[in-house]
Amino acid sequence: MDWDSLKKQCYNCHKCSLAQKRNNVVFGEGNPKAKLMFVGEGPGADEDSTGRPFVGRAGQLLTKAIEAIGLKREDVYIANVVKCRPPGNRVPAPDEAETCIQYLRNQVLLIKPKIIVCLGATAMKYIIDSQAQISKVRGEWIERKGYWLMPTFHPAALLRDESKKIPFWEDFKKVREKLELLDSE
Ligand code: URA
Repeated sequence: MDWDSLKKQCYNCHKCSLAQKRNNVVFGEGNPKAKLMFVGEGPGADEDSTGRPFVGRAGQLLTKAIEAIGLKREDVYIANVVKCRPPGNRVPAPDEAETCIQYLRNQVLLIKPKIIVCLGATAMKYIIDSQAQISKVRGEWIERKGYWLMPTFHPAALLRDESKKIPFWEDFKKVREKLELLDSE
């Protein structure tokens, strides 16, 4: 599977009912050779109308956090567990997430990032541990199949609850330190 055929397959996907109401498939964007990848839950209204991930308010916060660790959005890769907007921004249903995550798995296999940051409970649940709670597992590295995984809060959660800002920034600092360490190896 190459990048272009994966993208084409995803753009033409009708494997779940989210396809019926979408305006755009949000495949992901950034550097397809990135060392650092971010995974969110799924597109919201702004992402559905533009076809780009994390461009709304939560996205602006993510962009700031990426810049705060010395990178640009173009340096990293940003994707979601589901590529089409769940109506009303509801959490993706398990069958939607499990069907769609195949695209994410293939993106990861092609990008081969060193670090994957799971933004929020949905990404953590489908990538790391279906039973865990984000507030308990965030901030701790998990090494799996050669990837370093960092669960942290979703930036939208920071907009609702200011107390999550400090732990979120601490997790980003850990990501910057790990990138520096991996670069020096
Ligand atoms: N929230 C997400 O999880 N992903 C986006 O792309 C935008 C908002």
